[in-house]
Amino acid sequence: MIIFDSENKVFKLDTCESTYLIGIYEENYILNYYYGAPIPETCVGDLIDRNANASFSLANPVIGENGFTPDCAPMEYGTNGAADFRVSALSIRNANGDTTTDIRYKGHKIYKGKPSLSPLPYVYANNDDEADTLDIYAEDKVTGAEVTLRYTVFEKMGAMTRSAIITNASDKAMDIKRAFSLCVNMPEMDYDMITFYGRHAKERSREQRALAHGLQGIHSKRGASSHCHNPFVAFLKHGAGEEQGEAMGFNLVYSGNFSAVAECDFNSNTRFIMGINPEDFSWHLEAGESFTTPECVMVYTDKGLGEMSRIYHRLYNNNLVRGKYKHEKRPLLINSWEAAYFDFDTDKLVSFAERAKEAGMDMLVMDDGWFGVRNADNCSLGDWFVNEEKLPGGLDPLISRVNALGLKFGIWYEPEMISPDSDLYRAHPDWCVHVEGREPMIGRRQLVLDVSREDVRDNIFNQMYEVLSKHKIDYVKWDFNRNISDAGSAILPADKKQEFFHRFILGTYDLMDRFTKAFPDILFENCSGGGGRFDPGMLYYSPQIWASDQTDPIERLTIQFGTSICYPASTMGAHVSACDRTGYETKGDVALWGTFGYELDPNKLTDDEKALVKEQVKEYHKYYDLIHYGDLYRLIDPYFNHFRCAWSFVSPDKTEVLATAVTMRYDRDMPTFILKLRGLDKDKKYVCEETGKVYSGAFLMNAGINLTNKQSRDGESIKFYFKAQ
Ligand code: GLA
Repeated sequence: MIIFDSENKVFKLDTCESTYLIGIYEENYILNYYYGAPIPETCVGDLIDRNANASFSLANPVIGENGFTPDCAPMEYGTNGAADFRVSALSIRNANGDTTTDIRYKGHKIYKGKPSLSPLPYVYANNDDEADTLDIYAEDKVTGAEVTLRYTVFEKMGAMTRSAIITNASDKAMDIKRAFSLCVNMPEMDYDMITFYGRHAKERSREQRALAHGLQGIHSKRGASSHCHNPFVAFLKHGAGEEQGEAMGFNLVYSGNFSAVAECDFNSNTRFIMGINPEDFSWHLEAGESFTTPECVMVYTDKGLGEMSRIYHRLYNNNLVRGKYKHEKRPLLINSWEAAYFDFDTDKLVSFAERAKEAGMDMLVMDDGWFGVRNADNCSLGDWFVNEEKLPGGLDPLISRVNALGLKFGIWYEPEMISPDSDLYRAHPDWCVHVEGREPMIGRRQLVLDVSREDVRDNIFNQMYEVLSKHKIDYVKWDFNRNISDAGSAILPADKKQEFFHRFILGTYDLMDRFTKAFPDILFENCSGGGGRFDPGMLYYSPQIWASDQTDPIERLTIQFGTSICYPASTMGAHVSACDRTGYETKGDVALWGTFGYELDPNKLTDDEKALVKEQVKEYHKYYDLIHYGDLYRLIDPYFNHFRCAWSFVSPDKTEVLATAVTMRYDRDMPTFILKLRGLDKDKKYVCEETGKVYSGAFLMNAGINLTNKQSRDGESIKFYFKAQ
């Protein structure tokens, strides 16, 4: 619910978990008074007095030096140059070259529902009753910039979104130098900041640090949200933890360069901004033109990090992921990559499909290597026609044999790339991302295709459309295997050159939009060398993302725990591979916490392994709803415990529980291991399927199950399924 208290000039934005207060102060400054647990008041009283100790206090001359200084005030959308010296969310250079920017309240509108943010991806309302929106209209009288600060509350979900629209209302051109999606101000700094760092095959490793005075943050300037930092930041109040205390999350719905910066000032207040990375960014606005920032999804709860995660999970399952597979069961797939790499032909792929069929799987995915003359990663990206040497007669004979077995068929693409050794490059050497006069850097022997250009997008769309529309293809894995250097487009004029990175991502979104509309029955799985673009922007177009090229189940645990802090299991691509660090039990148990599938040559499995795979396929079906739509509890997080970890899924009605524990490293001197479950109904009786024993919810949560002597090796896993009587 959103209300405006006109007497106190305060907006109150409520969700079931939080209240957010925005006030209009003297001289129409827009201030951010509160973000925290629900409160009834709109009268903010003493909350305004945050700024007793200014440093060389600079005052607005109309207000006078009465204590209000922009530098200490909780500015709702901090701007550059007008006596707020902290990191700014907005900076505009006007036609004179001035960059001082100062926005003030002009009006507002409160309405039901949530408008589209297209062409950007966004969290949507399924109907107008799910969401309420507030647009605050602000203006900078000198630059002529008008800013709409847009807030949507999803009251029942416990989440909010924020974005900003900047319009050039002057009669001269201007340039946006910085336009963040959000700015929040907390009146204290006793928080830990949680971020996720990584690299290829080690994505989203949790990192937690106490805030310190000055700047701290993460960013990407790789042309992708990236493996290295995820566009997600959480703040955990000191003393808070997984299941208790104040937690706040901020997730940018964007797949390109981003920046997230917290600044703790001399008053020990915290400002946090998140949005498009201002480095190598600028946006030119002619008179009358507008620019829309991506949106940021905000969650506050006083029930700990675990509840914050569950709120994101529910929201993303209900209000971000779209299309047929939002609700429909996804096919259980086997992927050819780790099974064959580039070395396959029709018969080999059909042999995978035959074994997959015997095990009860649903789909064969032919990964990289089916097009152009691609027998290694050195060529053919951009030439999206079938390699008939590998697949004689093209795709039809293969697909019909796979379909005849009763399996669906999927295919791999890397649409935003071009190999220098390709027909496409030979015909259009200026279609790669490059800077005039510089030899572009090469990565995996490929260049990036300039999808900021419409003609380039049309070419790729038409090539792919030709294949996808003429064959029975049920799934597309959309890959992106390098980052962007030498960021430039042959057709952008000088005053728009720094728009390239954002235009590139808009181009990607446009392509994805066209494909998802043209092929609503295809299941799209996003990928970027594993999870290099695991972000909500991509989830808007593809309901699942290959989480990592790391398929060792023990290494995967930290990746999956990290990913789960924001993203639901239904989105997390996870497969069983042939890696021999653990047995197939553990590989299956870890992959079950995700979309589940296989990434191996099934002809090489022993009879025992084949029997186990059949069991795992049954488990996938049995636990599908529980894992995809249940509540996740991180029981023991490998961030804190390097020996053991455990997690569970609880059905929304609390009648079903699946708990899994893994011994990452066994040590004979390990202490007693009691696994205490969470999120159950304390009064219900639960039967353990594995042992037949009956426990109360209270027992399982408080006394727990004793696993002390149940695990005796590195890499062993154990799982229990409980059902309420
Ligand atoms: C990336 C993906 C892999 C596979 C290869 C193919 O690394 O993450 O799963 O598709 O590309 O080249």
